[in-house]
Parts: sequence; structure tokens; C-alpha cells
Amino acid sequence: MTLPPSVALASASRQFGTPPALRDISLTVPQGEIVGLIGRSGAGKSTLIRVLNGLDKPQSGRVVIAGQDITDLTETQLQPIRRRIGMIFQHFNLLSAKTVAENVALPLKIAGVPAPERAARVAELLDLVGLADKAGAYPSALSGGQKQRVGIARALAPRPVLLLSDEATSALDPETTGAILDLLQKVNRDLGLTILMITHEIEVVRQIATRVVVLDQGAVVEEGPVARLLASPRHAVTRALVRGLSPTLPADLAARVSPQGDQALVRIDLAGPSARLPILARIAEITGTPPRLLHGGLNDVQGQPYGRLFLALGTADPDRIARVLHDLSPMSVDLEVLGHVPSDV
Ligand SMILES: Nc1ncnc2c1ncn2[C@@H]1O[C@H](COP(=O)(O)OP(=O)(O)OP(=O)(O)O)[C@@H](O)[C@H]1O
Ligand SMILES: [Mg+2]
Repeated sequence: MTLPPSVALASASRQFGTPPALRDISLTVPQGEIVGLIGRSGAGKSTLIRVLNGLDKPQSGRVVIAGQDITDLTETQLQPIRRRIGMIFQHFNLLSAKTVAENVALPLKIAGVPAPERAARVAELLDLVGLADKAGAYPSALSGGQKQRVGIARALAPRPVLLLSDEATSALDPETTGAILDLLQKVNRDLGLTILMITHEIEVVRQIATRVVVLDQGAVVEEGPVARLLASPRHAVTRALVRGLSPTLPADLAARVSPQGDQALVRIDLAGPSARLPILARIAEITGTPPRLLHGGLNDVQGQPYGRLFLALGTADPDRIARVLHDLSPMSVDLEVLGHVPSDV
């Protein structure tokens, strides 16, 4: 039987003490999508994962995995469903006494897949994750990124309909994280696998998710398409998380900002098509001098530019500054005067 791949939680609550770990959570992960679930420590992320794979039961509400309501299933009834849910973890959870190939083969062995078929499937999976040459290696001889590739291959072995990732890149450096996220994106695209990425890193959400759900104190406080959420976060928790993505003024520069000075220092936040408008040229027209770029950067969010620039405007004249603010507001850039800097910064 092929199960329709999706996750749905309806008003699920789980309470250990006060406050509740999950409060009235409703969540849908459409088939084939990559949804990011982000929250600070203690938000309820791990509790949510346990509820989704049936290791824990909500006290109220329903849990539906791949079209099947699992809320009231017994351990035995849950087993075939758990096999359709792949899991990857922060600490990889590989068996150190087994080779890479044996680790990947394990779920197939448990499911009773005959040895020749198992070997063929393992070879195919190791090829998919780029580890064909490491089949006989032991986990201790692998880098963190390679271990996570093994984790992914093992999770994919039983052809899951859903992949749950619990902080799968949190132990990896940014470059390796990027490579693992690229692999997950490839798996999503090529196999149509639904992925729920649980993370506390907004950067992971930016790179991979199409939709994002923000969890705080056991409740969903905000959700939506990733581009919308990053460009205009509504909830304070989301705003705090998103702030981590934007460049901040380096300390030595921040130390030179004062209420008075030669040049106004402005922060410009750009999101979406507005980032492609000739903003700097427009500012130069108004102030009579090209602005100087002191700091900043642009990121890509679902193919759209998104970022923050710090500019010294070449004038401190309040009338001209007011005109810059006025003329740029229809371009839907978010602009703020932070203070003034000397012209030699
Ligand atoms: N088995 C348990 N018994 C009692 N309290 C628990 C249990 N599991 C979780 N909690 C509580 O539920 C809340 C949510 O915990 P959870 O582990 O789901 O958070 P988290 O978002 O995964 O945090 P982190 O990012 O630190 O892993 C916390 O207040 C935690 O103390
Ligand atoms: Mg956790």
C-alpha cells in the first residue's frame, strides 16, 4: 500500500508540567514540500517529533501521518508506519562497530529484505549520497558531513514517505551544512520526498525551506512562505530569529556612530524585487554625492534577493536626508537613519 505522503497535526497538545510542551498545535506539511520548523531551546521541537513518529502521544488532538490517523495506534500497529518515516539526527546515531554499508543496510535487514536485494539498494543509496567509495569504511574514519550522508542514506533505505530531520546540521560547519542541505534538496526534488526540517537555525530555513513554522513555548506563533516570513516577520520571536540572518554593524564602526557628524549613516533592508531597483543612484541624485557602502550583504531566499546595507550618505543635511526617506519609501525598502559618522570612516 502506498501512503499519501503528508503530515497533519490537529489541535495537538502535550503537557508534562507547566507550561505545556505543545499547546493546541495544528500543522500541515503538504506532500513533496520542505517545511522548516524553527524554535528556540525548549520550544517543544523534540516533543513534536516524538508525537509525529508515535513515540509519544498527545493528550488531545490528532496526529495524521501519510493520510493515516496514528493517534490511537498501538506500538505494533505503529511499526509499519514508523518504517515509512525516515529520521536524521544531530549526532548521526550510526553504529560504530558496523561499516557504512552495514549501517545503511540495517533498516532493510530489520524489514526482512533479502541479502542480494539489500546489497543492490545499499550501493544505489551510497551512490546517491556520494559515498560509493566508503562502503567498507567505519564511521570513526568519516568526517561529520560524511557521517550525516550515511545517516541520510540509512533514512532513505526503506523508501520513506516522510523525512524528519532533528537538527541534522547543527553539529556541522556552515560549508558542510550547505552541502548536506543541497543533498536534502536533491532528494526532495528527485524522489519527491516530503521533509520536515526541525532546527533552531534560521540559516537552515533560509537555504532549504519553502514554508516555515515558528514554534515558541509549545505553540505555533507564526507560519508562512519563507520569503514572506524573512522579509516581514510579525511575531517578536520570528523577528529575533530573523535578525540573526542580517549583517550587523561591526563593533569598530558602531563605536564611531554619534548623534552629530559629517555624514548620515543609514541602514537599508531590502527584500524581494525592490533590491534590484537603482536605489544607490536615486540616493546619489538626492544628496548630490554617491553613498559609500560601509557594510552589508545580500542573501538568496527562494530565488529572491534579501539583505541589509549600511551606507554613509555623504551629507548630514536634514532636508536631503528627509527627501531620501520620502523618495525611497515607495520602493518598499526599509530605511532607518542610525546616526552620523565622520567622513573618514
Ligand atoms: N519527558 C519529559 N518530561 C518532562 N518535561 C519534558 C519532557 N520532555 C520535554 N519536556 C519539557 O517540554 C518542553 C519542551 O521540550 P523539548 O525537548 O520539546 O524542546 P526543544 O524545542 O526540543 O528544545 P531544544 O532546542 O533545547 O532541544 C521543555 O520545557 C521541557 O522541559
Ligand atoms: Mg530538542
